[in-house]
Amino acid sequence: MLLSPQLRSALLAAAGSPTCRSLVENTGALRPIVDRFVAAPDVDGAVRVAAELATDRLVSLDHLGEDTTDRDRADATVDAYRELLTRLGGAGLADRAEVSVKLSALGRALPVDGEKIALDNARRVCAAAAEVGTAVTVDMEDHTTTDVTLAIVRDLRVDFPETGAVVQAYLRRTEADCADLAGPGSRVRLCKGAYAEPRSVAFTEKADVDASYVRCLRVLMAGEGYPMVATHDHRLVEIAEHLALRAGRTNASYELQMLYGVRPRLQEALAARGLRMRVYVPYGGEWYPYFTRRLAERPANLAFFARSLVGR
Ligand code: FDA
Repeated sequence: MLLSPQLRSALLAAAGSPTCRSLVENTGALRPIVDRFVAAPDVDGAVRVAAELATDRLVSLDHLGEDTTDRDRADATVDAYRELLTRLGGAGLADRAEVSVKLSALGRALPVDGEKIALDNARRVCAAAAEVGTAVTVDMEDHTTTDVTLAIVRDLRVDFPETGAVVQAYLRRTEADCADLAGPGSRVRLCKGAYAEPRSVAFTEKADVDASYVRCLRVLMAGEGYPMVATHDHRLVEIAEHLALRAGRTNASYELQMLYGVRPRLQEALAARGLRMRVYVPYGGEWYPYFTRRLAERPANLAFFARSLVGR
């Protein structure tokens, strides 16, 4: 069952509302549902969870935070990623753990030179990742940032060719972006897309988003890059496996990705079949917008959330 488009839009609007944010953040009863999606409050816990998951899966860690409008916070985010990467290297996890970053956490929205600052900061995170032997994937945010995000990924790839791009199947432009991104070695995460987008740029019906996802998968699997199939939709996972087989790909030439706390049994089952399965592991104190997007994806999450609010 899906959330109605109106309710989904309202929730996604709440993701950006400071009032809703302070209300929800200060409701201690929500901790159990937040903990389902957010792996740990700090780097110690994040590395511990990564080590547990890495016994049968790969991971991508996300230091939570976005839409930074303060230069110091953007710099602090770089420091947090550097510490995380050092810790992953020290724990011997760098061959199984990469990191995911949002350019808006690195300063892209700063009023002066935001894009340049975000690029410089992303370079510093990529350099720290390369130093310990792993890589960075640049998350995709709302459609107004797609061009600049892909341009920054292109720049980063000059020195750090393993930098991953993310594309969203709900955007009408994405099939063409996949064709551009399907070159040799190009790591591309394909997801459905998690933001509230207008019809002018995005498919809004689930069936159309799913059909676009399959078209994009076809392009990526037939290409020369490394597709990262980010979905919990088991039908799309089956289609991805089928297209990979048809393209003559080995299991090592693509991967599946799911979010921490979502369909963990399916994650384990796919990993047990020898497929590369990566879990996206968010951690840290700034969980509100991420958490709200997860609520908007599934009615059952919202019902659980509502019960927690009324103390049942
Ligand atoms: P869909 O929403 O159709 O769900 C399929 C099934 O999966 C559901 O029926 C349900 O069983 C389960 N499910 C899905 N979401 C759930 C949830 N929150 N709680 C419980 N069960 C759930 N988006 C973006 O815009 N930019 C990005 O950079 C990323 N990055 C990213 C990385 C990774 C690894 C993943 C898996 C996803 C993202 N996303 C993202 C989020 C993505 O765009 C999308 O919103 C979610 O993955 C939900 O879409 P599904 O493909 O799972 O399908």
